[in-house]
Amino acid sequence: MRYRKDNIWYNLAYVTVSPLVNWTVAQRIKRSIKHAIVVENVLNLTEFSEVPKIKIERKNKFEYILKIQNISNKHDVIKMSHLALSGSLRGRLERFELSQGHDVNGGNFIEFQVNDVLKNWQFRPSKISDFKNDFGIIKIDNRLSVDITKSSHFVISGSTGTGKSTLFLSLLAQMLYFRNGKSKPDLFIVDFKNGELARLAKQSNLPKNHFSDGVNGSELLNIFENIDDLMNERQRKQLNKRSFTVTSEHDGFSPVYVVLEEFGSGIALQDKKTQEAIKKYIAKIAMQGRSSLVCLVILSQQASVQGTGLTSAVIDQMSNKFLMGQTTPTQRTYLMSGFDLPDKAWAKGSGKGYYYSDDLLVPYEFTGAFPADEMADDWLFKVLKSEINAIYR
Ligand SMILES: Nc1ncnc2c1ncn2[C@@H]1O[C@H](COP(=O)(O)OP(=O)(O)O)[C@@H](O)[C@H]1O
Ligand SMILES: [Mg+2]
Repeated sequence: MRYRKDNIWYNLAYVTVSPLVNWTVAQRIKRSIKHAIVVENVLNLTEFSEVPKIKIERKNKFEYILKIQNISNKHDVIKMSHLALSGSLRGRLERFELSQGHDVNGGNFIEFQVNDVLKNWQFRPSKISDFKNDFGIIKIDNRLSVDITKSSHFVISGSTGTGKSTLFLSLLAQMLYFRNGKSKPDLFIVDFKNGELARLAKQSNLPKNHFSDGVNGSELLNIFENIDDLMNERQRKQLNKRSFTVTSEHDGFSPVYVVLEEFGSGIALQDKKTQEAIKKYIAKIAMQGRSSLVCLVILSQQASVQGTGLTSAVIDQMSNKFLMGQTTPTQRTYLMSGFDLPDKAWAKGSGKGYYYSDDLLVPYEFTGAFPADEMADDWLFKVLKSEINAIYR
């Protein structure tokens, strides 16, 4: 790393720390980050006027938030500077490391979590508002989150009992909380297993034409036609916009979620013509959904072409990939190719799995969210019912 001799910058750089409690840790983070940016110059700045504003906030003893002002031309550099910045804590604050950055405050700042690595990062919601995040941000656990306005599609795979549904429901509870101004999210469910998602659809106010168990071909087609209309309408609005760099979060859209449970085995029961039509719709959502914020969520025991019923071109568009529990080498190569691990290294037990996305260098081992309630499954179900009812009154 390049050293700057003019340490005058160090004294001039502007860093705020709030609140002013736990003085020592926050101040040590401040000094390290400032040193990395101003002295080690990890962002490769060329003049002092480029030095971004830096804010450090304390969430609790184990978690701090670092915000770095977004400066022109440096957005991606800042976002990916978490490794270099984590390095700057080494030797000073061994136990802390930074998550990858994401945009906050309308893109004016890039936020990083500064986390104690010795802590267990499982997300344990205990009240419905625990699911409320900034628009588009979904927590994988208390350390890692994804921004669905940038990477919108999900595939969750793993055999029965590994925690797929629980993981998905805890993601959905966060997804349904998003509001873009006055607009609310929309949810479509196709549950070929006729399992808990069907129950959720039936026992909530989810409109009838937003759910199908996939038995009736024309009902199924109808759902996809409706989603397609919705997507076309959004695209039309965007194409008419003057601004070249339109992103859906600025268009007042809230996300539309299209959830497919065991699509692969279910779709095989339909006639060829229906199958082809539906697969075409899904491919279109996978390819074009991100810009109009139509998010595809695929739940499947098998992560293969055969298992999901979808082509690898579609699966390639699934930017967020989850493998729950122990999986076969074939499944792993399919979703996380190039990162195979010996059998024993793969997660075992309910809720344990790996998350992978294009933003990550290697798959991320995590424990799925689990409600801090004795009746965890029932509680989560109740939460989701009331969230759906708040959308469709
Ligand atoms: N993160 C977790 N922590 C602890 N227990 C979990 C977790 N995820 C799931 N479980 C338990 O495992 C059981 C099976 O989970 P489920 O989500 O239904 O699996 P799948 O959908 O893969 O069959 C659930 O009843 C739940 O109580
Ligand atoms: Mg399940």
